[in-house]
Amino acid sequence: QELELKLEMLEKGGFDHFMLKEIYEQPRSIKDCMRGRIYPEEGKVQLGGIKEFAEKLKNIDRIIIVACGTSWHAGLVGEYLIEEYARIPVEVEYASEFRYRNPIITEKDVVIAISQSGETADTMAAIEMAKERGATIFGICNVAGASIPRLSHAGVYTHAGPEIGVASTKAFTAQVTVLTLMAFYMAQQKGTITTSKLIELLTELDNIPEKIQQTLESNNIIKEVADKIKDSTNCLFLGRGSGFPVALEGALKLKEISYIHAEGYPAAEMKHGPIALIDEEMPVVFIATQNSSYEKVISNIQEVKARKGKVIAIVTQGDTEVKKMADYCIEIPDANEAFLPLLATIPLQLLSYHIAVMRGCNVDQPRNLAKSVTVE
Ligand code: AGP
Repeated sequence: QELELKLEMLEKGGFDHFMLKEIYEQPRSIKDCMRGRIYPEEGKVQLGGIKEFAEKLKNIDRIIIVACGTSWHAGLVGEYLIEEYARIPVEVEYASEFRYRNPIITEKDVVIAISQSGETADTMAAIEMAKERGATIFGICNVAGASIPRLSHAGVYTHAGPEIGVASTKAFTAQVTVLTLMAFYMAQQKGTITTSKLIELLTELDNIPEKIQQTLESNNIIKEVADKIKDSTNCLFLGRGSGFPVALEGALKLKEISYIHAEGYPAAEMKHGPIALIDEEMPVVFIATQNSSYEKVISNIQEVKARKGKVIAIVTQGDTEVKKMADYCIEIPDANEAFLPLLATIPLQLLSYHIAVMRGCNVDQPRNLAKSVTVE
């Protein structure tokens, strides 16, 4: 038994939990995910896995993304990026809903199935149905040789390495990285992006692992924030644009490992219901970085403060505006809006982790959850 314990310690690489180790692995896992796929100096993306469909991608009418849980959140980020850069309409569906509807699918559709494990029952059933109806299936998967890559016509591995913690962390950021690469690749094929723009974006993307490293250095501040809100019974996460899926992911992380009830919402939806929940007991986490929705998010923060809510804001380094209003701020490096989800997710992972540890929860093996959901 002592040997087993020592082995486990070794596997955790000196970290207290697999989840923490996996959070800290992200600068490396994202680098691994991009290796051999981006050529910043030439402004080129190469995705060997879907190369044979390069021509088809020029003429597709739409993309349907199917996934569950965290992978579904990655899909939402993918929707923003593919629509923005490749100008292809995207629908993001919960695999479990999609498979039991009678969805309209044609041979012109591309279905992207996202799954860390590659064994999720609902996602597999969604693929099988779409395949029967003639769609082309691309898989985005972390586990090599799993069922989903085998069921797909083509695909792209995330190369994040084994993820042991039930709460998905590095697999999520790797999925988002792959979707970013796919969006740029499709834009390149369709000619909806210039080479100079791609050079600019890829050069910045290449530097994201370094910026994630910098974000991880805020760990102590995040731990202090965790200590302030660890006894809450509810928590809201709000964001706009691609900050919205980040909010959803932050809420899912918190609820699954700390058992605090948490909801993610688009910040503007607050006034259509959730605002009724806000009082001095309610922490509200905002994705409030300086991008196109910055001013709008600031007015949402004011609305929360006016109702005495406790505001925790993820802000761009050097921000002064939000700092005047928020109770706690966590800074992330400045970046193009396209890469915001990759950076803003990191502090939310750490926040949930510390809260769960402080509450004495089993971080790596939360109750009632399995790492891969092979039954429906
Ligand atoms: C994430 O933290 C969850 N454990 C869960 O939502 C997970 O993302 C979901 O079950 C999908 O799994 P998959 O990516 O392996 O298909």
